[in-house]
Amino acid sequence: MPNLLSRGLFNLFFGSRRKPFASLPGPQPGVLGTAGDFLGPQPWDVCARYGREYGGVTLIWMGPSPGVVLNDPAVIAEVLESPRRMEFEKGNISEQVRPTVTDDTVFIAKLSGDWAQKRKLEPMEQPWSPKWLAAQVEPMHRSVVESVEALLKEPSIDYTTAMRKLTFDAFAVAAVGEKLPTSVFDDFMLMAKGADARIQAKMPLKFVSPPKGFEEAKARFYGQFADRVRAARKNPNPQAVDVMSWTLRETPGIDDQVLAHLLGGVFYGGAFSSSVTLVGAFHQLQKYPQAEARLAEEAASLGDGPLTFEKLGRAPWAEACAFESLRLLPAVRVFTRTPSKDAQLAGVTLPAGAMIMISNQHLHRDPAHWTEPDTYNPARWLDGGATRDPLGSGHFFPFGRGPRACVGGDFAMVFLRTALATIAARAKAQVDSTEPFEEGFFFGVVLPKGVTGKLVPRSAQAARATPTVGAISA
Ligand code: HEM
Repeated sequence: MPNLLSRGLFNLFFGSRRKPFASLPGPQPGVLGTAGDFLGPQPWDVCARYGREYGGVTLIWMGPSPGVVLNDPAVIAEVLESPRRMEFEKGNISEQVRPTVTDDTVFIAKLSGDWAQKRKLEPMEQPWSPKWLAAQVEPMHRSVVESVEALLKEPSIDYTTAMRKLTFDAFAVAAVGEKLPTSVFDDFMLMAKGADARIQAKMPLKFVSPPKGFEEAKARFYGQFADRVRAARKNPNPQAVDVMSWTLRETPGIDDQVLAHLLGGVFYGGAFSSSVTLVGAFHQLQKYPQAEARLAEEAASLGDGPLTFEKLGRAPWAEACAFESLRLLPAVRVFTRTPSKDAQLAGVTLPAGAMIMISNQHLHRDPAHWTEPDTYNPARWLDGGATRDPLGSGHFFPFGRGPRACVGGDFAMVFLRTALATIAARAKAQVDSTEPFEEGFFFGVVLPKGVTGKLVPRSAQAARATPTVGAISA
């Protein structure tokens, strides 16, 4: 809490601004407003603490400007789902990532501008997307098998980097039908670092320089997708099931460059968030060995041979493990919105440009809603659990809520289920420590730090010998 002098100065200069917000609880502002709370701890931890201490709506001050942190499902629905959502634009993340992504991605489009048109263009929003998605299980499975075989040779791995590359490779197969050269991954990472420097900057964006070679990397990264699109247009493969080929068949009029940008966007949209969800799952599965044993048993029961969408349907535990990782350790924990004009919310008038922070961390662990909220218990998702708390509902929204929720959520779920089942059938993901890992922040995604260990081959025999495990309790 700011000291007496700091609080006094705030009241002296801005005290009159506080009156219209007197109905909202929140920390005492000092000369920086309440922004000092965010210097040090991670923003999602601050938002969750506010939820516990002040309830569903917390008044904050970014210097002299008021804002709110939302932990109330009904108020969050008003901002993200109700017809009123059009009054609230995405926060400054759009400007921060703009140089790395392209104007063709829906991610940075304005709701009041062409967001709706761009969303309609997204390959994952098409009437054929569910069919495309089902066809990705086999190729992504093959890609993950190859990655696992390579990782099994490593004496020690850092899970965050290892899963990132495994995810990138599987996404490449889903996007363009084959893995991409390492140089493309390197360009992808360099551009992500450029965006991250802007996201984490403590100064105006005009003063943040891109990393050396940024423009060249960007030209190469999107350029190689454009080359692939042109080649696929020239020599179409009617059997190809990747999203590029599927889009060209279904929407032949699409511009090459636009499609190239959308393909590149798949990686920025989901490679970081999907891979850290796997890291979270492995960390928790190490802590709860019965849940791990059940995953291994289920994966082994799917048998050898290609993993298909149909077979994946017989792996409810893998899905439950993914849900539980998304609940307990959501990759994206803070989303921001800002009213385009003065807007009524939670009984006050928020001025245009005010910061609205929405976090899922507190609600995902709200003890009033969840039994043993801090325990990784995939069993909670079985027997109607996933229907009681569906994705995008009040206490479970790892992909956001409402019409602007994640466009790749279904794809991410199919990838996570495929990866968990494929890895568990072949290896035990051994993690060195089950102590909570340190969390950093990269490209808007929570970054697990120091989660090391190794993949230990699981002989078919060992998997068969695993005892049958019933419902897992804490
Ligand atoms: C575990 C994996 C993922 C998580 C946790 C995640 C999370 C999210 C969240 C929370 C949002 C909404 C942010 C907001 O409302 O401000 C979002 C939006 C978005 N996500 Fe994901 N995402 C994941 C995977 C993916 C994948 C695989 C893709 C790419 C295909 C993707 C592409 C996008 C895009 C384009 C948007 C913006 C949608 C729009 O503005 O209309 N995401 N994601």
